[in-house]
Amino acid sequence: MENLLSTKGEFKVVPESYILPPEDRPGNTKVPLCDTIPVIDFKGKQAKLVHQIIHASKEFGFFQLVNHGIEEKLLQDVLEVSKEFFELPVEDKASFISDDPMKSCKIFTSIDYPREDVHYWRDVLRHPCHPLEEHIQFWPQKPAKYRDVVGAFTAEVRKLSVCLLDLISKGLGLEPGYFQDKAELLEAQLMAINHYPPCPDPSLTLGLPKHADANLISFILQEMDGLQVLKDEQWLALKPVPNAFVVNIGHILHIISNGKLKSAEHRVVTNKNLLRTTISIFIYPSHSCQVEPATVLTNDDNPPLYRAFIVKDFLGTFMVDTYQRKPPLDRYMLQS
Ligand code: OGA
Ligand code: NI
Repeated sequence: MENLLSTKGEFKVVPESYILPPEDRPGNTKVPLCDTIPVIDFKGKQAKLVHQIIHASKEFGFFQLVNHGIEEKLLQDVLEVSKEFFELPVEDKASFISDDPMKSCKIFTSIDYPREDVHYWRDVLRHPCHPLEEHIQFWPQKPAKYRDVVGAFTAEVRKLSVCLLDLISKGLGLEPGYFQDKAELLEAQLMAINHYPPCPDPSLTLGLPKHADANLISFILQEMDGLQVLKDEQWLALKPVPNAFVVNIGHILHIISNGKLKSAEHRVVTNKNLLRTTISIFIYPSHSCQVEPATVLTNDDNPPLYRAFIVKDFLGTFMVDTYQRKPPLDRYMLQS
C-alpha cells in the first residue's frame, strides 16, 4: 500500500526510484499533437470504413473512432466513477491493493513494482469484465454506481469490439465469423483505470514505458494528452478527441494478420500540473487458445512469419522478454 502514488499525497521532487536512465527519458522537447493519426467516423459507408480501418492499422497501428454509438453520457459517467474511485479514502481501497497476479480485481502501481528496476508514474485498478456475471462480484462497491456504470460500459465496448473486428476481418479477407462474439479469440476482456498523478518533473519519468499491447485489440478512453505512438522512430502525440475511443492493434492481431496490421509501440508521458485518468479495455483470447497467422493470408509467396503458440505461453514469455527489454515477438518468428 505504501508503494501506491495515489496514497502518498503531493510530490515536490521525483523520487530517485522513478528517474529513468537518460536514454529512456522523454526529456524536455515537447512532442507536438499529431494530425495524421486517422480519426475514423464509425457511421461512414461500410466499404470506406473498412478501408480506413485497415489503412490506419497498417500505417500506424492506431486510430481514433468517433460516432461509435456509445452514448456520451455513459462515457462521462465511467470516467467520473473511475476518478471517484481513486479519490476514495485509503481504507475503501485497501482490500484491492495487491501484487498477487491471481487476484481478480486489484490496484497496483507502476508495471510490476516488486521486480522492476525503475518505477513508472501510474496507479491502476484492473479487473476482468466478461462474462459480467463471473466477475462483477469482485468489483468495487464504492462509489455506489461503480458496478452499474462500468457493467453497462464494458458490455457496450464489447459489442463495439465485435463489430470492429468483423470489419477488420472483412478488410483482411478472413472467412466470415473469424472473430465471433463466442469465439475463443475474444473470450476475455480486461478493464484498467489508469491514474497518472501530476509529476514534478515530466522530463525524467514516464507513466508507462515504451510497449506494445500483448492482446488482440485495445480501446482507450482519454480526456487529455499524454499518450504517444512510435512511428518511423518518431514519437507522435495522440490528440484528445472528445468522446472518441483510441483503438490500437495488439501483438496477437498483428500475428493473425501475418504482420499486415501493426502492433505499434506507445508510451505515456506525465504532466506537471494535471492528474490524467484513462480507461483501457483489452480484448484477449482465452489462455488455452491457439494463435497463428490466418491460413488464408499465407501461401508460397507470403509464408507465415510466426509459428503457432498457445496464448498462456505467449503471455508468459511476453512478460519475461519485456523485463529483459527484448522484442517479445522474436522468439515466435519463423526464419524465411
Ligand atoms: C495501456 C496503455 C495508454 C494510456 O494501458 O496499455 O497504453 O494513455 N494506456 O493510458
Ligand atoms: Ni498500451
